[in-house]
Formats: sequence, C-alpha cells, structure tokens
Amino acid sequence: MKKKILVTGGTGYIGSHTVVELIESGFEVIIVDNLSNSNINALDGIEKITGTRPLFEKLDVCDKSQLTSFFEKITGIEAIIHVAAFKSVSESVANPLKYYFNNLVSTISLLDLMKKKEIPYLVFSSSCTVYGQPDELPVSENAPIKKAMSPYGNTKQIMEEIISDTLLSTPSLKAISLRYFNPIGAHPSALIGELPTGVPDNLVPFITQTAIGIRDEIKVFGDDYNTPDGSAIRDYLHVVDLAKAHVAAIQRLLKKQGKANYEIFNLGTGKGVSVLEAIESFERATGEKLNYKIVDRRAGDIEKVWGDTSYANKELGWKAEKSLDDTMLSAWNWEKYLKKQKK
Ligand code: WQD
Repeated sequence: MKKKILVTGGTGYIGSHTVVELIESGFEVIIVDNLSNSNINALDGIEKITGTRPLFEKLDVCDKSQLTSFFEKITGIEAIIHVAAFKSVSESVANPLKYYFNNLVSTISLLDLMKKKEIPYLVFSSSCTVYGQPDELPVSENAPIKKAMSPYGNTKQIMEEIISDTLLSTPSLKAISLRYFNPIGAHPSALIGELPTGVPDNLVPFITQTAIGIRDEIKVFGDDYNTPDGSAIRDYLHVVDLAKAHVAAIQRLLKKQGKANYEIFNLGTGKGVSVLEAIESFERATGEKLNYKIVDRRAGDIEKVWGDTSYANKELGWKAEKSLDDTMLSAWNWEKYLKKQKK
C-alpha cells in the first residue's frame, strides 16, 4: 500500500517538481492548491513525466471550512508537505498584508487540522530569507535569526515559530523545515517549470523571458554592493535537487529517524553566485546574448547569502548535484517549451 502524502501548493513551481519526485519514489500524492499563482496544466506535465495523475482538489488552505471538508473526504494521509505560500520578496514589500494573511493563516489552519486529524508529520517550505543579512557566510541553521529584510522573510520566520510552538504543545507532531535558498531551473523533460503570473519578480524567469523576447532587457538591481562585481549574491540551486530533498525529509519522518521533534535544514549548493555571474552562466550555457541594464537596488533585497548545507548532506543524505550552467539550460528549455505551447 503506497503511503499517502498531501502537498499544499502542489501545482506550483516547487510543489509540482516535489510531486514528481514523490511519485517516482513510490508515494501516492494528493495536491491541494487554490491556483492563485499556478496553473492546473501542471497536472498534465506531472502525468506525462510520471504516468500518474495525482488527485487534485482546488481549495484555499486559508479557508478552514474548505480544509475541514477536504480532510473529512480524504483519509489516510501520513504526512503533509506545506509549500503553498506567496514568495515574492518585492511583492511582499508592496503588499505586506496579503503576505501576512496568506502565509500565516494557511499554516495555522493546516496545523490545527493536523492536530484534529492526528496527521503526525509536516515538511515545511521555509526560506533562507529567515536569516536576513547573515553576519557570517556560509550561513548555517544555528545562525542567529536576524530581523527579516522583507515581509516575506518575516512571514517565514513567524511560520517557523508557529510550527515550533505547536510542536512543543503537541509532542505527537514532528516537523522538518527546509530553508530553501534560490530555487531555479526546470525539470529536464521541460514539461513543468516556473510559471510566474505577469512580470516575473525572480531573476531567472526574467532572464529566460528576456532571452526569448518577451522582455526587452534585464534590470540588474544594483551593482554597488560589497561583492566582487558589485551585484548581489545568492545561492542558486536546481529545483529538481530541491524537490529530492523533500522526499528525503518525508522518508526521515516516516522512518522516525529524526534526532528531534523539529529539525531545520538548509537547502542550497553552498556556493554564492552574483547576478552578473548568473547572467554570464545563462549566456555560456545557452549561447543566447542577454541585454541588461544596471539600475538602483530593489527594496527588501539582502546583499549576499549562501548556505552551509553540511547538515542536510550528513543527516538527509542530500546534496545539490546540478551545475549552474545545466540549471540555466533547463530554465531556457522550459521557456522554449512554453513558447511552442503558445503556437
Ligand atoms: C535574486 C537576485 C535581485 C530580478 C527568492 C525567492 C524567495 C526565496 C529566496 C524561497 C537579487 C536580483 C532579480 C531582476 C535582479 N526562495 N534580480 N533583476 O529575492 O533572492 O528571493 O529566493 O523561498 O521565495 O523569491 O530572488 O530571483 O527575486 O532575486 O537583479 O529582474 O536577483 O536583486 O539580488 P530573491 P530573486
């Protein structure tokens, strides 16, 4: 009997790639998503890749009544991967209440239902943005949590605290928070990938849309940072590598291998890459020339961050495998697939 895993936000960018890896690892997956920042066509891509179409229910995890009736209908869920959240640093600066409501209420609703339905295991999609601008790099999981630089990062800090406090009050619950660095790229099949609605906030979809001609040029947000080339540094990892870490985390919980009720893991490559280096990598990997212009810094951005991933390497047996160039090429193949679909 396959173990049943619920993925909230499972038609989204991270969620859909995680669903593929779960199915390919032998799990039965159920997806709930309100499709506010994803497309139901992701189910077609998941089915084409895996041969399995996961059960899908359109619902808003913030809506307690929808969530309650879902859990009355669907039973036997062994663990939940909570990915559903808004994730744009810049949008959260412009619209903080949208982020506080959605990201916090969804987590509170889910935890409450987990307690009621006695679902013991949670894997939570957290973020390196919880660190703010770390004093030391690479940043490790026990680094001090500084004031987040954006409402988005603050919601992730608060979500982690809500989870930690709930676990302290409910010893039967166990959770793992995965602190993502910068997920980029797309599944090698180019059948699923990042589908930003409107103008992309994130760098790599903006790069691929510029390369394919949807955007005129990339705005590089600042070249006056204290970094080798002046542009901001991030730790970019392939979304498939990231997805595989979710399978490792679920397996750790189901096999009761955790060393504590609540564990936190950094998921990155451990390598910092600047915006200009990311642009160079894309050009090298694809042979496409990119137009870009240096503009002012973006509100909410930190200067530089990359992760110490030794704990995930050791305890999860997980390591980011794909190179930056290969990851950029996968993003480009996805953008070209999207263009073909529009014809
Ligand atoms: C990366 C760099 C920008 C767009 C993301 C996710 C967040 C979290 C962390 C998972 C920054 C620069 C960007 C552009 C640019 N991941 N940039 N021009 O802000 O690090 O956050 O990773 O939880 O959810 O959003 O990613 O891709 O927006 O920016 O110069 O058009 O690229 O200033 O230095 P960010 P990003």
